[in-house]
This record gives sequence, C-alpha cells and structure tokens, in this order.
Amino acid sequence: MKILYSNFKRNLQNIIDRYSDNGIFVIIDQQVHQILVDNILDTLLHNGDTHIYKIEATEKSKSIEKAIGLWQWLVERGANRKSLIINIGGGIITDLGGFVAATFKRGCSFINIPTTLMAMVDASIGGKTGVNFLGLKNEIGTFTDPKWILINIDLLDTLSYEAMADGYAEMLKYGFIADEHLLNLTYSLDLQAIDKSLLRSLIIKDIQIKQHLARIDKYDQNERRALNFGHTFAHAFEAFATGKNMALTHGTAVAWGMVCELYLSIIHYGFSRDEFHRLHHFVKEHYKTISINCKDFDDIYRFMLHDKKNADHNINFTLLERAGKFRCNQKASQTEIYEALEYVCL
Ligand SMILES: NC(=O)c1ccc[n+]([C@@H]2O[C@H](COP(=O)([O-])OP(=O)(O)OC[C@H]3O[C@@H](n4cnc5c(N)ncnc54)[C@H](O)[C@@H]3O)[C@@H](O)[C@H]2O)c1
Repeated sequence: MKILYSNFKRNLQNIIDRYSDNGIFVIIDQQVHQILVDNILDTLLHNGDTHIYKIEATEKSKSIEKAIGLWQWLVERGANRKSLIINIGGGIITDLGGFVAATFKRGCSFINIPTTLMAMVDASIGGKTGVNFLGLKNEIGTFTDPKWILINIDLLDTLSYEAMADGYAEMLKYGFIADEHLLNLTYSLDLQAIDKSLLRSLIIKDIQIKQHLARIDKYDQNERRALNFGHTFAHAFEAFATGKNMALTHGTAVAWGMVCELYLSIIHYGFSRDEFHRLHHFVKEHYKTISINCKDFDDIYRFMLHDKKNADHNINFTLLERAGKFRCNQKASQTEIYEALEYVCL
C-alpha cells in the first residue's frame, strides 16, 4: 500500500493505465461526482473501459444491500480479479467500496481517493472496510488495504464547514494520543480561515500516526486501539441515533465521545481537568449537540455492550494519562459511564 501526496492527475493516470485492460470500476459519492466531474474525472472518462456507480453518501448506503447491488453491477459489467475499483468520496464510500472490493472474487485491487477530511486522515487509511448491520456500526467488514491512496487536499475546497469539523474531530484525537505539541498545533488550525500549508502538514502527520499504529497492530488488539479514543461512546451514540432516525455525523459523535472518555481519564488516571474543559468548551462551541437525556442512558449503555472491542462482557475504552500517554483496554463502571454521559446532556 502506498500513499501519494503529489502529482495527483499524473499518478492517477499511471495507475489507470496499469489496469485499463481489465476494466476500471469507479464507486463515487454522487455529490462529489456532480462537483468534481470536470476536475478529476476527465482523467478517468478518457479511458474506454471505465464504469461509474454513483452512491448517495449516507450511513444507510453503508449496507449489505448496497454491497449486493455493487457486486451485481461488477458481475454484469464483466469485472474480474484483475480489474481496478476506484473509491472516490468520504468515509461512507471508502468503507463500502473497500468492503465490496475486498470480497469480490475473494479480493480485487482498489484505490482510495478521499474527498473529505475524515477520509483523508482516517477512513481511507489503515485497511478497515465494512458496512453497518442490524443497526450496528461497521458490524460486517474486513481488514484490507487499498493498493494506493491518493491525497489531494484541493479536493477539500468544496467541503462544508460541518464536514470539515467532522474530520477535525479525528485530528484532535491524533493530538490527544500523540503529544501535546501536535494537540496544540491542531487546536491552532482555524477552520473558518484555513491555513492550507498547516492543514497539509497536519494531515500528513496524522496519516503517519495511523499508518504506524496499523502497521504494528493491524488487527486492532493492542496499540492500534489508541485510535479508538472517543470511539466507544461515539459508536454507541451513532447506533442510538440510527435507532431514533436522528441525524448524527461520525465526527460529531467522536467529538462528544472524546469529552466522555476524557472525563473517565480524569477519574482513572488524573488527566488534566484544564485540558478536559478546553475540549468540552471547544466541542460545545463547534459541534451540534446530541439530543439525549438521562432516560436514554440505559439504551446507550446497551449499545456499548455490543462494541466489537469488548472482551469478557466488559466495555473497552482507550483512556489517557496525558496527551501522548494512552492506556488501551481499560474498563469503567456503569456509574462512571453515566456520569460521563451527563456532559453530553448539559
Ligand atoms: N474505516 C475506518 O477506519 C473509518 C475511520 C473513520 C470513519 N469511518 C467511517 O467514515 C464515515 C464518515 O465519513 P465522512 O465523514 O467522510 O462522511 P461522508 O462520506 O458521509 O461525507 C460527508 C458529506 O460530505 C460530502 N462530500 C464528500 N466529499 C465532498 C467534497 N469534496 N466536496 C463537497 N462535499 C463532499 C458527502 O456527499 C457527504 O454529504 C462513517 O461511516 C465512519 O464510520 C471509517
């Protein structure tokens, strides 16, 4: 797996040329298709044997039914094991398209072209692919790396503030698990007036952190779990929201999830209360609230009990002693979890 940060069009053309004899199959966010058709797709459309499948980027599309539709499309269009699948979009597309590619004919080559900040720093990197199932996030999936990931930060120019803030939540996560310097540098990025060179250097740094953790612990048993900081609560919030038909983005869920897990970090490891308050204020100011109250705590707790990381019926958390010093595979009591949830209600 290779990540390419420059010469976007030339690299894409070279990759396409390698695979063109066996067909190029593009799975693309329909909104991105509309916006970027003249920008990046001209390279693709000049190829004779290119097929395009547009998808609405919602969590509902990250489903086994949509995967079946894509497998069918690949069969009907004559895709074979040497064909290339190109996923263009945010995390919805890279998760779904990666899963389809990883399973089609026991695995077909694919590349990711992430078009959201979330997908650039996180979803397209590290090889996790998958779909939601029975209301549970990413319940079915594989660990499969794309052949290439093409990073082009100009693709973010058309992204909404909300979508940028979603990816930014994961960038803050990298700061928390890496070190105080990266955390402060990430806080210094102004999403309303983006300094592109700072953004680019932060994206590269974040990708390197994820690559490193995915390399030393591909199957997410030990160190890679640092990346789950904020995510035990986040996945439960997302499952809860899906059940109630409430709109909730992954980034917003992660932002509030980090608030809850920093609270647990204070109790268990004496994490700095000032840093906790800095994050809490930031999240209140920049992210939508999640509409829950104390009557919902039992439901959210039940969703946590389904988390894939759990073992021996214990809910599994990644907690912090300080920025850069994480502790994976931690437990917390039900009372502590409910106390942490109070911060989401306030
Ligand atoms: N596999 C992993 O390791 C991993 C990691 C993090 C998140 N994820 C998954 O990623 C998904 C969220 O991904 P996301 O936040 O990228 O959201 P997304 O894919 O839903 O995209 C967000 C919105 O931005 C639009 N969009 C995308 N690119 C655009 C562009 N360049 N210009 C304008 N609009 C654009 C989309 O149409 C959509 O409306 C979740 O399902 C989450 O579980 C996976």
